[in-house]
Amino acid sequence: MKVLLTGGAGYIGSHTIVEMHEAGHEVVVVDNFSNSSPKSVARVEKIIGKKVPLYEADVADEAAMDRIFAEHKIDAVVHFAGYKAVGESVSKPVEYYENNIGSTLTLLKAMKKAGCKKLIFSSSATVYGAPEKCPITEDSPTGNCSNPYGWTKYMIEVILKDYCVADPDMQVVLLRYFNPVGAHKSGTIGEMPNGIPNNLMPFITQVAVGKRKELAVFGNDYPTHDGTGVRDFIHVVDLARGHVAALNFDKKGAEVFNLGTGTGYSVLDMVKAFSEVNGVPVPYRIAERRPGDIATCYADPAKSLAVLGWKATHGLEDMVRDSWRWQSQNPNGYED
Ligand code: UFG
Repeated sequence: MKVLLTGGAGYIGSHTIVEMHEAGHEVVVVDNFSNSSPKSVARVEKIIGKKVPLYEADVADEAAMDRIFAEHKIDAVVHFAGYKAVGESVSKPVEYYENNIGSTLTLLKAMKKAGCKKLIFSSSATVYGAPEKCPITEDSPTGNCSNPYGWTKYMIEVILKDYCVADPDMQVVLLRYFNPVGAHKSGTIGEMPNGIPNNLMPFITQVAVGKRKELAVFGNDYPTHDGTGVRDFIHVVDLARGHVAALNFDKKGAEVFNLGTGTGYSVLDMVKAFSEVNGVPVPYRIAERRPGDIATCYADPAKSLAVLGWKATHGLEDMVRDSWRWQSQNPNGYED
């Protein structure tokens, strides 16, 4: 298939180009580089030994999107593009709703004009809010999100389901990601957060490389095995392969899948594994809980295995080793 990746230069997008290529698909990328670098695509081209058509444009720019669809016969779209910083979304709700929802609506209009009927959307476990129980199945209650970022994911899911009702030929897959970490084994592509990282793994790697003094562990009084928060960390290459599996899912309507491993690790489990596997110390201190955080969140990935034939194959060691290979080889991300 010929697949358009919006936000394809980003962390998950760049890894997905590689996996799509390995599975025999052709990829076209559109990205405005607001939170990514064209260098990631150049590095992907080195990994796969092939040029990737790359458009610098905003998905909210309808004329630009029309041009891409006119220049390529796109069979499917994977929609990664969007703002994703939880804290920032609280201070800039208008920008988050406008950007994430507006660009999705423009994309749908462009797809309609082009007759493109297949869409895979980057949703998030955040739509489950504070889950009543773990592991979380796809039919668990959603909504009750704790920030505008989460609500944009929730609302886009609603919009896409409505769109499928209006156009019964549409095939939409909503992929709810848990916590992506790790990097391609080459160590040449990976996560490059702007400024101070919000997420755990990039913070750990920046402490390990000496860019930050210590990790603040947000709370050690949660009802978990060591008191620190538990999450379902998933290797980004497994996550990328989940999109390839979703591409092969041939069913009309909207369908939801969790992309997680089914195993929860705590913040301190991650710190310990990172130090032991890589032989690098990660100084940390216990700090206050972070507002909006939940104690425990991990997936039930059974539906993804049963229906898509997908499951995560990378373990904790792979995750911490590959995260460190990327960070240690590229202390300043793509800036060098
Ligand atoms: N944590 C720390 N110190 C840090 C950063 C994080 O202790 O400096 C802890 C958090 O308190 C939490 C765990 O590490 O217990 C994971 O935190 P992350 O910020 O890495 O991830 P979250 O689970 O909070 O959020 C992630 C994504 C969101 C997504 C959500 C879905 O960042 O985009 O998962 O559940 F919505």
